[in-house]
Amino acid sequence: MTPIQSCILNRNTKTKPVWIMRQAGRYLPEFRKIRKNNKDFIKLCLNKKIIPTITLQPLKRFDLDAAIIFSDILMIPYGLGQNVKFTKKLGPELGDFKIDEISNTSKINFTKILKPVYSSLQNVSKNKLLKNKDLIGFVGSPWTLLVYMLNKSSPKKNLKKKIFKDKILIQEILKVIVDFTNLHISQQVKNGATLIQLFDSWAGLVNESELEEYIYVQNKKVVDFTKKLEVPVICFPRGIKNYSKFVKNVKPDVISIDYNVDPKIIGKNIDIPVQGGLNPKFLLGDKSQVKKEANKYIEIFKDHPYIFNLGHGILPETKPEMLEYLIKIIKENG
Ligand code: CP3
Repeated sequence: MTPIQSCILNRNTKTKPVWIMRQAGRYLPEFRKIRKNNKDFIKLCLNKKIIPTITLQPLKRFDLDAAIIFSDILMIPYGLGQNVKFTKKLGPELGDFKIDEISNTSKINFTKILKPVYSSLQNVSKNKLLKNKDLIGFVGSPWTLLVYMLNKSSPKKNLKKKIFKDKILIQEILKVIVDFTNLHISQQVKNGATLIQLFDSWAGLVNESELEEYIYVQNKKVVDFTKKLEVPVICFPRGIKNYSKFVKNVKPDVISIDYNVDPKIIGKNIDIPVQGGLNPKFLLGDKSQVKKEANKYIEIFKDHPYIFNLGHGILPETKPEMLEYLIKIIKENG
């Protein structure tokens, strides 16, 4: 059994297993080199010759316990027929869509469009670099996808609040998202994903009074579906205040925490396996601080099933040698 799967089953692992959110990405010069020659990001995410190479790049350098398939959460809106493009300055930019059109998307067509993702998973799962390691498939959580689909760009820059007023439309869109998210998960699992992570990157935008409707209920639908496929599911509801309440309501196999929560409180109040937490910003500083911060998480979770990771994606400015150093600390002290 892989170290991550043992950890999830609450077995003792010699050291804490580790993988890194956005481990396949812009901080790696070998990724930037490929990206330079592939200006269209969506096309790159559908290139079955290149996806396996990028997915395996971090495993060639670092002693990681999992690969995560190189793809994007916005491949679902793309598969539903919404235009998606990535610009250097503005990040993702999405086009308009009509609810009737996306509701009528055929499952066969959607699967055909995303086929390169699935064949790449199959290809990577056979690679010997993955021996005794997990292959992580992923999706965006329904709320987070809804935000991108309606806001049509990152809410970090400009959140158009009035588009969230039509509650009936929102429920209709969420239903389509959940259906196709589940389809996307089942295809990923069928083709070799051994673990699924749900990224609810914008969960923190939801008011307390709407958490049940937009965060708990929607994540639970996807978590329950994934559990039936018999692969563990990790939830990352970034920015929510009460992780214990999320865990009680949604019941994922693993909860991934962001860097704004106190890990000590999480360790005390949550008894399911925990992942992540370290602020990715520390990897931009000096090694002594990285060591101190990494050891803090290792110490807090020493008697808790814990998968080492960051509290959000690794930053593009990170030097690869800093990640190498972090992994060394975990393998020595974890
Ligand atoms: O983790 C991995 O290594 C696997 C690949 C992966 C990517 N995106 C590749 C990517 C994963 C797991 C994602 C998830 C994702 N995508 C999320 C959830 C996690 C999070 O960061 O909150 C979100 C919100 C997106 C949407 C998205 N994709 C944005 C906002 C952007 C642009 C800005 C940014 O954060 O990079 C992307 C582009 C993107 N997705 C890149 C990569 C490597 C950068 C592309 C480039 O410009 O070279």
